[in-house]
Amino acid sequence: MKDNSKLVFTFILLGVLSACDSEQPHSAQLQSKRAPAFELNEHKTAGGMTHKRLFASYLYPGEKLSSKQQLDFWTGFSFFRDPWVAAPSATGNRDGLGPLFNTRSCIACHTAGSRAKIDEAGHILPLSLVVRLGSTDPSIKAVDPIYGGQIQPRAISYRLTDANIIKKSPYTDNLGEAWLDKSYSKITGVFADGEPYELLKPSYQLTKLAYGELAPHIGLSVRLAPNIFGMGLLNAIKTDDLLKQEDSDDIDGNGISAKYNRVPNVITQAIEVGRFGFKSKQPNLHQQVAAAFRDDIGITNSSFVDETCSKTQVACNYASAYGGHSLADLEIPDNRLDLTVTFNELLGVPPARNLNNKTVQAGRATFYQLSCQQCHTPSYVTDENYPVKELAKQTIWPYTDLALHDMGEGLADGVYEFNANGREWRTAPLWGIGLQKYKTGQQRFLHDGRARTISEAILWHGGEAEPAKKAYLALTKQQRDALIQFVKAI
Ligand code: HEC
Ligand code: HEC
Repeated sequence: MKDNSKLVFTFILLGVLSACDSEQPHSAQLQSKRAPAFELNEHKTAGGMTHKRLFASYLYPGEKLSSKQQLDFWTGFSFFRDPWVAAPSATGNRDGLGPLFNTRSCIACHTAGSRAKIDEAGHILPLSLVVRLGSTDPSIKAVDPIYGGQIQPRAISYRLTDANIIKKSPYTDNLGEAWLDKSYSKITGVFADGEPYELLKPSYQLTKLAYGELAPHIGLSVRLAPNIFGMGLLNAIKTDDLLKQEDSDDIDGNGISAKYNRVPNVITQAIEVGRFGFKSKQPNLHQQVAAAFRDDIGITNSSFVDETCSKTQVACNYASAYGGHSLADLEIPDNRLDLTVTFNELLGVPPARNLNNKTVQAGRATFYQLSCQQCHTPSYVTDENYPVKELAKQTIWPYTDLALHDMGEGLADGVYEFNANGREWRTAPLWGIGLQKYKTGQQRFLHDGRARTISEAILWHGGEAEPAKKAYLALTKQQRDALIQFVKAI
């Protein structure tokens, strides 16, 4: 109770502050907000799940795990790291790749537990970029009847030779589904102090569609694999603590909605609050990992039993006879799937850095002043009853409400995912992002990795975050740098 009261207090405070504003027009919403007093535990981003490794990789377990948990972590890691091969093969434990797939391993996209090197612009067979397909028309919920909800650009070799089938369908080669044309155009602007900036605006088009055109209601949502550390702790936040923040119709009138996606749990069929994925499509970590196995690698499992072949993809259906399509024949059995989930769940988070630095503290004040925390909720105390005790009742600093927000036209993909619309994205967690460059050799932000710096990421904020962006534009260079240093430190 004591821990929860902190959250409640924050809300009362926000409520009071935004009530003071309600006479002001929307764009003037940015009243000065005082940062709350600095707490010592801000250094320990993830409570007992914090680890001390600042370089090399994000792939380390939390500090306080038992040796059995560490063993499970590293065993689970092997399923995350090792590439899968096509069935039938000499290695029955790791076959079942495809028939259609994006890459052969989780780590190919989540390099170092983070974001793989972003695909270059040009005409490409995408690797780290995932092209999701979704409806642009709210009255049609269905994904594409041929390609499903995601483009799998690769395929295992399989060719049907049965003359009777060949007569009936042109699609008797198992082919990767499409290529991607990606280009950037430059957008330029200036800060209030006259310093110019430049953003890269991407555009995407599918080419070489192997099985015919997309349905007319289908749009593309291009995504770069996100960071995966700390997911167990996000899984351990009480749903009630999320829903306390819900304000879908912006009743409090602060210009910021906080809408939670409502998505099916594929095992219980219940409709639950979405947490994982850029539009919160998955309700829990287990389902997120199971979906990744099936959709990204073509590995069927007890949550997602069927391969991603549609009826049109004739060779794909025949090729899948080597694995999948019956519960007895799952390509990853539950014990290994569960270990992969455990690995994801026990991934720790690096500690905050330099928070005592004066500039960083000034940046912290600016973060609250600009109302960044209205979406990037700084902290939670995780559920005291979470089944893994090391993750229970931890004070964590992820800086996200896990809610959907209208982020404006600039970031919009036009695609619906359950209750999320084409302008909505889940607030990205900010913990650990300042280390991306050291851990992966690259720095890329936002859902499709278009932003090359934290400053660019902020400059793409629009919609409900337009006032925060405008206030950022109005800062002096010194204030901007301090804010960025704070975001890099958390
Ligand atoms: C082809 C690239 C690719 C592969 C392979 C891949 N992922 Fe991902 N991963 C993504 C993308 C893209 C997302 C965002 C999905 C969305 O928006 O719905 C994601 C999301 C996630 C998330 C949720 C992160 C969050 O912040 O909500 C987890 C956890 C995750 N992946 C784990 C895995 C695991 C485990 C595997 C292997 C079984 C895997 N991924 C394989 C690209 C990939
Ligand atoms: C209205 C809600 C909202 C506000 C206010 C807001 N953000 Fe965000 N922020 C988001 C969402 C949603 C995303 C993810 C957008 C995407 O992936 O395209 C995001 C992404 C980011 C990212 C990129 C993180 C990553 O790893 O990709 C950074 C950095 C960031 N915000 C910083 C800030 C700062 C600093 C402020 C205050 C100046 C701020 N945000 C205000 C909602 C908000």
